[in-house]
Amino acid sequence: MAPGILVTCLAGVGAAAVLRVLCWASQFVLYHFWRPSKPLTAYKRAGGDSYALITGGSAGIGLAIARNLVSQGFGVVLLGHLPDELASAAKSLNSPLVRTLVVNARTATPEQLSTAIESISDLNISILVNNVGGFPLADPPLRPLSTLSTAEIDAHVDLNARFMARLTNLVLPLLSSSSTRQKNERSLILNVSSAGRVGMPWIVMYSATKAFNYAFSVGLSRELDDDPATAHIDCLAVTLGEVQSQANVMAEGAVTAEVFGGYVVGGIDGAVRRKWREVRPYWGHDLQLGLMDRVLPDSMLTHFSREELRAKKERWDVIMAKRR
Ligand SMILES: NC(=O)c1ccc[n+]([C@@H]2O[C@H](COP(=O)([O-])OP(=O)(O)OC[C@H]3O[C@@H](n4cnc5c(N)ncnc54)[C@H](OP(=O)(O)O)[C@@H]3O)[C@@H](O)[C@H]2O)c1
Repeated sequence: MAPGILVTCLAGVGAAAVLRVLCWASQFVLYHFWRPSKPLTAYKRAGGDSYALITGGSAGIGLAIARNLVSQGFGVVLLGHLPDELASAAKSLNSPLVRTLVVNARTATPEQLSTAIESISDLNISILVNNVGGFPLADPPLRPLSTLSTAEIDAHVDLNARFMARLTNLVLPLLSSSSTRQKNERSLILNVSSAGRVGMPWIVMYSATKAFNYAFSVGLSRELDDDPATAHIDCLAVTLGEVQSQANVMAEGAVTAEVFGGYVVGGIDGAVRRKWREVRPYWGHDLQLGLMDRVLPDSMLTHFSREELRAKKERWDVIMAKRR
């Protein structure tokens, strides 16, 4: 090939790469720093109050999402397993449009879950937030898989995966119900995943179930889009890195659950408009996930994830030694 043609080809490839980065950067800035002043109006029902059902709604990210939805005029149904904690969370929202459902997401039978959902069938439910999840095992939560009991392995599947699948199956008819929804009104499902979905050492069951959340959400979104009877339901996986919450007390310097709840509620419309199936509502997590998903080679991702989780594991070792 003549040198002139080679230089032209290389310049073309370089220009395309620069253009791609510029497109990505402008998209990033527009999405993260231009948020609607009145978010989620598409999910309001004209015929009465609109409610969001939020699992794990008594604390942390779930409660923060609830607080932000209440401030936008939505009613909320908080689902949790501890009646006292649920009651005080509900009180803290200071709204007449708050209900609670006492359900243990890890152990609820299909019958208990059906009865719970039946008890809110009088409400206009337009949003489902599958948020409940965590590390259902004895401390320390970071451990090699070989040290988990069978019950602890099953508990991860029950809490982080099985429950959201069963609940979504039951709630889908409420999100579509023609008795509460007018033709152009939309519904929304958010499924809270984690940056851990890429596969992390010492939290293997947690990260595997978070990959389930992600794939469940993306698959369901593609399915709902395809059918005119359900195409009004927007479905997004919400992926996040570290957030300070009761479950993650070691996340010093990370965004707080309270602030993160605002990013979630403010970040949905932009994601739906762009037809995304996954949203990373906080810009810092979006950068982190972008690197993990698209830039870092496996060797670096393995190195960094091991370093980060090994450091956490060692802090847990200190805590466990003090407890002995
Ligand atoms: N925080 C992070 O850094 C982070 C990072 C990535 C992903 N996430 C994901 O974000 C979601 C929320 O996490 P979070 O940090 O906000 O957790 P959190 O502070 O522990 O809050 C979890 C909520 O779930 C409830 N809950 C726990 N076990 C339950 C059960 N068996 N049945 C019903 N409710 C139950 C808790 O109620 P009680 O307080 O009554 O137990 C609480 O309301 C989870 O899916 C988590 O995996 C979090």
